[in-house]
Amino acid sequence: SPAKLLVTGGAGYIGSVCAARLIENGHDVVVLDDLSTGHADAIPDGCRFVEGDAATDAAALLTEGFDGVLHFAAKSLVGESMQDPAKYWDGNVVTSLRLLEAMRRTGTPKLVFSSTAAVYGEPDEVPIRETAPTRPTNTYGATKLAIDHAITSYAAAHGLAAVSLRYFNVAGSYRRFGERHTTETHLIPIVLQVPAGERQQVQIYGDDYPTEDGTCVRDYIHVADLAEAHLLALDKAAAGEHRIYNLGNGTGFSNRQVVDTCREVTGHPIPAVAAERRGGDPAVLVASSERARTELGWQPQRAELAEMVGDAWSFTQSRLPA
Ligand code: UFG
Repeated sequence: SPAKLLVTGGAGYIGSVCAARLIENGHDVVVLDDLSTGHADAIPDGCRFVEGDAATDAAALLTEGFDGVLHFAAKSLVGESMQDPAKYWDGNVVTSLRLLEAMRRTGTPKLVFSSTAAVYGEPDEVPIRETAPTRPTNTYGATKLAIDHAITSYAAAHGLAAVSLRYFNVAGSYRRFGERHTTETHLIPIVLQVPAGERQQVQIYGDDYPTEDGTCVRDYIHVADLAEAHLLALDKAAAGEHRIYNLGNGTGFSNRQVVDTCREVTGHPIPAVAAERRGGDPAVLVASSERARTELGWQPQRAELAEMVGDAWSFTQSRLPA
């Protein structure tokens, strides 16, 4: 049934895709975004947009009465989180605590939170289940884990219906919405800058990891499949419970395999050179999403890496000057 939903960070990559899917499913969506990393032209049609901060501006909005909040607004660069931790403890943890308090005061019953595979750190076992130890290797992951703990206590004490979705490596695009960071650090959009003529070559960070070809292995998930998981999570959230789901496809691709797929999709040779390891990178991150499949009924439809890269490439091309 249609719900009135507040989407923080709805002008960002994942937030805009999820907001668009919520609107397409008939929900009444208000996007709250301070446009610090989001883009005004990524706000989906058919929603009300409020330019503001989730820490300070959500409280007044929530007094209107909402059925739930999807909280995407966050700082999300691993490297930056190590250089400037205050930006992450404040921008992620303090902001989320303020939002939780605003939800409690206004009796807003449901929360879907953007958590991350970065909460696990270097895993003992792959695929990673939700029961795996949480030992983040970077400040970004530590802040998302702290918020997960706060949500658990709000569910227990105040009856919040909460779901945290721990995303692995999100890729692809949906309609006119795609990945577009002012400072790009993610592998696929960086690799696609070469065929786009914006970069000469890519650096592969580390080729001596204990993996088949020596480069890091990641589990890629299509942003549209990720959005479906949010719709299911909203449906399944239950008062007083905090559920946690890993979202990935359960298949690992090495950084070299990602570059190869980008070559196949674009037909460009994409020169790649090995470079130093990047600090804080686990060798292998692959999800077990069994829990999301059985409990949410989640079934990814775009599990092929070539399809994700193809959609990312269409998005990149759509933004190139004619
Ligand atoms: N990489 C390169 N060259 C580049 C950029 C990245 O070799 O120019 C490598 C990285 O070192 C890593 C892999 O590509 O081995 C993937 O890196 P990304 O930055 O694309 O993604 P991460 O796996 O580091 O991080 C992503 C999200 C985080 C999230 C994490 C959880 O960006 O927010 O997944 O798995 F926490």
